[in-house]
Amino acid sequence: MHVVSAQGSEKLHGWNAPDRKRWRGLFVTGTDTGVGKTVITAAIAAALRSEGRNVGVWKPVQSGALLGKGITDAERLLRGTDISDRPEQVAPFTFAAPLAPALAAKQAGVTMTTAGLLAAGEPLAERYDALLIEGAGGAAVPLTSDTLVADFIAELGVPALIVARCGLGTVNHTLLTAALLRQRGIPVAGVVMNEVDPATSRDDPSTAANAELIERYGGLRVLGRFPWICGEATMEKLVRAVKRHIDISPIRQMLENARSQ
Ligand SMILES: Nc1ncnc2c1ncn2[C@@H]1O[C@H](COP(=O)(O)OP(=O)(O)OP(=O)(O)O)[C@@H](O)[C@H]1O
Ligand SMILES: [Mg+2]
Repeated sequence: MHVVSAQGSEKLHGWNAPDRKRWRGLFVTGTDTGVGKTVITAAIAAALRSEGRNVGVWKPVQSGALLGKGITDAERLLRGTDISDRPEQVAPFTFAAPLAPALAAKQAGVTMTTAGLLAAGEPLAERYDALLIEGAGGAAVPLTSDTLVADFIAELGVPALIVARCGLGTVNHTLLTAALLRQRGIPVAGVVMNEVDPATSRDDPSTAANAELIERYGGLRVLGRFPWICGEATMEKLVRAVKRHIDISPIRQMLENARSQ
């Protein structure tokens, strides 16, 4: 049994190596921090839940604010999906410092290991048929003292979804992200182009061609362009946006395949 307390301190009691096959879900990474991973993770989880699927959300580590004010990713994921888990269950490691997880943990005096991160996610994995897992920053962000986010995804053995901006620069960032994931043997379920900055994506002349370039040069499937959501990103608005703009059939298929394994 393991005990992980909120805000990052950890005690492990006789934790056994997890059975990798038990991790079912999708890891949502992005081309950068602030590209819309939380919004898209909540939106896809909400859409799958609206179809009656028992899908949960997990943010293995978050940094930049402590729980309580409603601004952390875990709290936003719960609001966007109407899931009633406690934020500290969804994000067992939360650090105040706006730093990469490895540095934020170090500054807080917490030794964060892959084994500890996995152990903290086990109760969620047991409760849900599949988890939508939001990464920190991008795939090459240092997660522990000797691993990157991409190493953690590989350890989980789940496919990844890449959230990318719409405008200039996104082809480069998306193809580099996909290359790193593939190097680690991680299947890429697809790319969601997010209108994280509506003015830029509307006025940027590269936006119209970017999805096609990503598909052609990256051999990736772009699942759609997620629109800018005005006001609070409620579950209702997120589900509607997914239904109208994102093809989640490859994600459904991957989750079904994982279930039948
Ligand atoms: N489609 C969208 N519509 C409206 N607001 C959006 C959209 N996408 C992102 N945002 C806003 O942009 C900001 C960054 O998005 P978000 O927090 O989802 O990024 P992130 O990739 O999860 O960042 P982090 O690396 O900090 O986890 C947030 O304020 C979010 O509400
Ligand atoms: Mg986020």
